[in-house]
Amino acid sequence: MMASVKEMDTYAKRWIKQAGGKLRESFETKLNIEEKTNPNDLVTNMDKAIEKFFVDNITSTFPGHRIFGEEGMGDDIKDLKGTVWIIDPIDGTLNFIHQQRNFAISLGVYQEGIGIIGMVYDVVHDELYHAVKGHGAFMDDQRLAPLNEGSVSTSILSMNASWVTENRRIDPNLLAPLVRDVRGTRSYGSAALELAFVAAGRLDAYITMRLMPWDFAGGVLLIEEVGGEVSDIKGEELDYLLGGSLFVSKPGLHKEVFKRYLSGNTKK
Ligand code: IPD
Ligand code: CA
Ligand code: CA
Repeated sequence: MMASVKEMDTYAKRWIKQAGGKLRESFETKLNIEEKTNPNDLVTNMDKAIEKFFVDNITSTFPGHRIFGEEGMGDDIKDLKGTVWIIDPIDGTLNFIHQQRNFAISLGVYQEGIGIIGMVYDVVHDELYHAVKGHGAFMDDQRLAPLNEGSVSTSILSMNASWVTENRRIDPNLLAPLVRDVRGTRSYGSAALELAFVAAGRLDAYITMRLMPWDFAGGVLLIEEVGGEVSDIKGEELDYLLGGSLFVSKPGLHKEVFKRYLSGNTKK
């Protein structure tokens, strides 16, 4: 029998909270830290343990569902047929290691490529942002208000400063005027949290040149549910298999940024 959305949502909430508890308990223990692709790309024993926790629970409760996780303990995902759980066990690992805050667990459930459940758990604040497609977005029991139209001059933009230095993906001369014209910029170091903050109206926009599907699969659903806009930096749909750039914002702001700042972008 097909699992109902309600059933998946109930289990997902239970597991994400339990996983968060494990991460908070781990603050008292010594972390085992390894380098992945470079000295700034780190993974800990807890990233792996949390992904394993989800994989074990999902496979025993929902056999037939597949898992697309950052640490590769789930399935080798080449398409989004059927039901796929897209998971980042710790989004913001550098913050987890250096700060013991400003990180999240991100979880999205996709059916035939369509997001039906999105969750971002701010572990240290014990705040769960969650949405079921078509039913609005919430922080714990509090419904998030629909986003109002915004404009660049009154916006707080979240962005990693590295994108206004020389890079392969965008001409920094395009982004510098945007940084100059907004009311302020922020950078939290956890894409999932930044997406949740846009959904909650604490940030007006978030822009980045390179994310993987597990970074945004949970958070973009929250934004869609409150009427925000979601695309890559060319205005095209996100790629839930390969990832890429991402630009999310309040309505109105999206159009203004494309028209005034991003239209000259020729890099990929
Ligand atoms: C990273 C964070 C960070 C973003 C990176 C991601 P991780 O995820 O979301 O904010 O700028 O691109 O890789 O590695 O901590 O799960
Ligand atoms: Ca991540
Ligand atoms: Ca991660």
